[in-house]
Amino acid sequence: MKEYFTLAEIDEVAQSIRNLTKYQPKVGLILGSGLGDLANSIEDPDFISYNNIPYWPTSTVHGHSGRLVIGKLEGQTVITMQGRAHYYEGYSMAEVTLPVRVMQRLGVELLVVTNAAGAINPEYVPGDVMFLSDHIAMIAMTGNNPLRGPNLDEFGPRFPDMSQAYDRILIEKAKKVADKNNIQTFSGVYVSLSGPSFESPADLRFLRAIGADAVGMSTVPEVIIARHGGLRVLGISGISNKANLDGTTITTHDEVLEAGKVLVPRLTTIVRGLLSEI
Ligand code: HPA
Repeated sequence: MKEYFTLAEIDEVAQSIRNLTKYQPKVGLILGSGLGDLANSIEDPDFISYNNIPYWPTSTVHGHSGRLVIGKLEGQTVITMQGRAHYYEGYSMAEVTLPVRVMQRLGVELLVVTNAAGAINPEYVPGDVMFLSDHIAMIAMTGNNPLRGPNLDEFGPRFPDMSQAYDRILIEKAKKVADKNNIQTFSGVYVSLSGPSFESPADLRFLRAIGADAVGMSTVPEVIIARHGGLRVLGISGISNKANLDGTTITTHDEVLEAGKVLVPRLTTIVRGLLSEI
């Protein structure tokens, strides 16, 4: 396991991708659990298996295929992660976030990051879409920040600002697209935990008390790295299950994948609509 990557190593990875595609992507797309089919809309794609990229973390989780899909979507050149690796799989924070660093070196300027999340906000139901207005970096604030280690000054400062991690203009544009297509959306706060165990009812009551609307096991490390490197970020949670604050139901990964089937067409519409307008 690697705790840190040097700029030379990140550039080695970027070069290996350049060698395997004709495209120079400007938009990055990370697809969460059960949401990988969004990449099927990409035109004239180059596929690169994660196994063919040095240092690249591969996901072991059902519902995540492991490849890059690089091509055109609504006139934009996009690099898409069909499947992501998670901290709970045993990767370091540096490994989990390596793909975002590589995207930055490839010239990506805008990142759309998606995830499957449990609803803490009682108004949300499975299949709902939540734009991240902010996050609670639980996993990072307890010592596991992906920026721990030598600062790579080429990307950003030692102490980067996180006051506006999620781009308000992008949220506004994406919301307009959703409204136009009669897709109900919310804006809310996402809290990231390490997983892989789902939360206990007491965990969930605590998370609700501190202001979280949705909970998941990804996204925030990638967003911290993205913002450090100056990317504009849109974060979208697909609500896959109601978090169980009173302990009366159980949460399963199958439920998460099932919700993906409803969510993929909604997220595809929103992402395509957004890309056609920027
Ligand atoms: N908790 C944590 N992560 C999740 C959940 C959940 O309920 N649903 C999907 N990812």
